[in-house]
Amino acid sequence: MKTTRLTVTEKPAEKIDADLLIYCVAEEKNKAPLCDPFIKDQVEKAFDLKDFSGKAEEQLMFYPSSVRAEEKIKARRVMVMGMGRIEKEEDLSEVFDTLRKIGGSMAKACEKIKAKTITVCLPTIQNPGPEKTAECFAEGIFLGDYRFLKYKKISKKKGNYTGLKMIRFTCTKAVSSTRKGIKKGVAAARAACEARDMANEPGNGWTSREFADYAGALARTHGLTYTCLEKKDMKKMGMGGILAVNQGSAIPPRMIILEYRPEKKSDIILLVGKGITFDSGGISLKPSAGMEEMKYDMCGGAAVLATMQAVGEEKPSVGVVAIIPATDNMSGSSAIRPGDIIRHFNGITSEIVNTDAEGRMILADALAYGIKTFSPDCVVDIATLTGAVVVGLGHHYSGLMSNNDELTNRLVSAGKNAGEPIWRLPLTKEYKKQIESKVADIKNVGGKWGGTITASAYLSNFVDKTPWAHLDIAGTAWDFTEKSYIPKGPSGIGVRTFLNLIRYWEKGGLA
Ligand code: BES
Ligand code: MN
Ligand code: ZN
Repeated sequence: MKTTRLTVTEKPAEKIDADLLIYCVAEEKNKAPLCDPFIKDQVEKAFDLKDFSGKAEEQLMFYPSSVRAEEKIKARRVMVMGMGRIEKEEDLSEVFDTLRKIGGSMAKACEKIKAKTITVCLPTIQNPGPEKTAECFAEGIFLGDYRFLKYKKISKKKGNYTGLKMIRFTCTKAVSSTRKGIKKGVAAARAACEARDMANEPGNGWTSREFADYAGALARTHGLTYTCLEKKDMKKMGMGGILAVNQGSAIPPRMIILEYRPEKKSDIILLVGKGITFDSGGISLKPSAGMEEMKYDMCGGAAVLATMQAVGEEKPSVGVVAIIPATDNMSGSSAIRPGDIIRHFNGITSEIVNTDAEGRMILADALAYGIKTFSPDCVVDIATLTGAVVVGLGHHYSGLMSNNDELTNRLVSAGKNAGEPIWRLPLTKEYKKQIESKVADIKNVGGKWGGTITASAYLSNFVDKTPWAHLDIAGTAWDFTEKSYIPKGPSGIGVRTFLNLIRYWEKGGLA
């Protein structure tokens, strides 16, 4: 776990010793950005030379000299960071993302100069105000400072940069709101980074066992209820989907459950995340090119588990239950065959036409079990479910299919405010028809076209009337839209969207 320290201080920024001191300035129309007297001279000179105007993420670096006005600056370097015309932007979610991107750019700049301690002089922005401004900055820096070094021995050598150690925010007004914001931003970012860590682990480093151990540890730390259904429990309960997917594997399957209940009676949100720790395709084997990326097929499960970490810390007013069906999809000699017929937890039988359509099989049991056991007020599942969603939406939007407009609206705005955009696709009876089987109740593939939607049509058989939404993150769980705070590789997508959903649940969502 990342150990970067973040603090808020009222001490004047220039008096604090640091590798780098960062000031943020807004872009003005036809004139130099307004700024602190300490940097005014440099900023105006740079503006006159057309080197710097204050556009979002634009940077100006200088080295305080001891013979000039800046002599009072204690930090070794000063960076002026542009924020663009931030007060002119009408869409608040765009402002949030600009602030996060600025934070991410700060982290990137620090990497370049190997800065370990920084001071960020927080700007005053009327809308969204000090708390949210601080939250977005902290989130962006923390997310942008992410790196996965566990398996690299050079990480231990001296001189290799391993990230920020200390981030000090300075502000003079609204100190307690600023603190609150920082805390929220760090909790969300830390959780998303945990999800990235889980995803970065290879198929032999993150199995159903590691998923279960992590959940157990979270439960102990935060007082959550932890249950793990083992293979024998699954057999007793008739969870034919996850058992079938696991048949070709040497590692046992696990259905991992974490419950958080607030003291006061409240709604319950059920989150279900696909935890395929490696997807070979099974007997319907995948092509070898790029198959190593299928270690990321557990990103839905990682998002759900990491969300529970932040939930455990924050103790929100709404109840949250998380379920992660976890196994790899392998082709051992006991593996399921194309044509096999299985029976899911709720009794529905399914003809397995393609063993590579395994995500829906494990999710089906988890959804039906979760809804029966916990009677949630809504359920959201998240999964790297189909290659088809990448064809349709590329790497920029997650796909959403749902039986409920209100839940859809909440998720779409939660995602928008998190910088994790979501696009709804239709889920109507035509698609359900595509998965009718001649020999069983349904079959696990629906033909060549509309694959993202037919996958969700499959899941719809396991949610009854419960308000339900399915997020297909196959295009966004890794290689998500490149931004300063989103690295190449796993993005940790879903975590911050879920936190927006949970934190503002009782208020009907964040505006
Ligand atoms: N995990 C894959 C989906 C996937 C593919 C995610 C590429 C990310 C990138 C899923 O289990 C799968 O194999 N889906 C099949 C379904 C098909 C057999 C109906 C797919 O999309 O090809
Ligand atoms: Mn598959
Ligand atoms: Zn898969």
